Amino acid sequence: MPTAESKRARGPAFHALFSDEARFLKAWVGNPGTTGAVSPSGKYLARMMARYVDPALPGPVIELGPGTGPVTQALIERGVAPERLILVEYDPAFCTLLQERFPGATVIQGDAYDLPATLAGLVEEPAAAVVSSLPLLNKKEADRIGMLKDAFALLGPGGNVIQFTYGMVSPVPRRPRNADPFVFLAEASPPVWLNIPPARVWVYKPAGEVVSLEDARRSFSISAEGERLLDKLKEHTFRVRDGFLEQRDRIERDLRLARESVRIDVELRAAHIRESNRLDARFDRHLRSAISLIRRLGENRRDKR
Ligand SMILES: C[S@@+](CC[C@H](N)C(=O)[O-])C[C@H]1O[C@@H](n2cnc3c(N)ncnc32)[C@H](O)[C@@H]1O
Repeated sequence: MPTAESKRARGPAFHALFSDEARFLKAWVGNPGTTGAVSPSGKYLARMMARYVDPALPGPVIELGPGTGPVTQALIERGVAPERLILVEYDPAFCTLLQERFPGATVIQGDAYDLPATLAGLVEEPAAAVVSSLPLLNKKEADRIGMLKDAFALLGPGGNVIQFTYGMVSPVPRRPRNADPFVFLAEASPPVWLNIPPARVWVYKPAGEVVSLEDARRSFSISAEGERLLDKLKEHTFRVRDGFLEQRDRIERDLRLARESVRIDVELRAAHIRESNRLDARFDRHLRSAISLIRRLGENRRDKR
């Protein structure tokens, strides 16, 4: 049971939460494509993103699109010192707020889709992670791939790029339409159902030293037949992996739908039972009044005789 004291203590946090909702909505109304969501991420999603950052790795942690700072806060709670944080945010109002909230962090107002220019001269050592909440799905495939390549270039050994999405599949296509031979490792978190809307976190890592087939060709002298086989192998690997991921997403969706339909069914049945109980009670009441009416009529007739 919350005491008056604890309610008072929660007051400013609730106030901050609702102000953030309002700030976000305002930013979204002004620029829906850039803001990408109508409210800030919830704490469960923010924590899921922070979970993939290893605070023991050296170097800065670069956050792209921090907004009002829920993921920033989760990163600090995860053990990343604010002084290690470089926050790249496009919206000047969010930048002012971030600087007030996280005075130790470096806040850069700029474009996260042009990291070499935005971060020029600011990142002195390889980064432990790049954590992005950018609304990637509003961008062209080439821009998303460009962002990931630039982010990989900032990482030190063991580092990764972390991105959330409301979509079912990786927001950075693992088989680009333009056949760009950009190879990377991708892993998805379980869905965060408690976020509104539910979301998922993707973790990307450079695929070792060999980041493209071109690099592979340069590194080893491969015969024409070898190249053809490599192409086929790559195509086949992508197809198997994508097929598997699509199937997993389909099963998850079906399970969700099945759970929802069972819930609706149970609710309908409960409503039906409640309704028939109500009808039974009404029928009982009518039956009781009919019986008492008949009794009274009988008594009247007896009195007259
Ligand atoms: C979906 S919101 C996420 C905000 C916050 N991280 C959260 O989880 O609540 C996307 C954020 O990315 C910022 N943004 C969008 N495009 C950007 C860009 N090109 N460069 C830097 N920030 C950008 C938006 O201003 C917004 O704050």
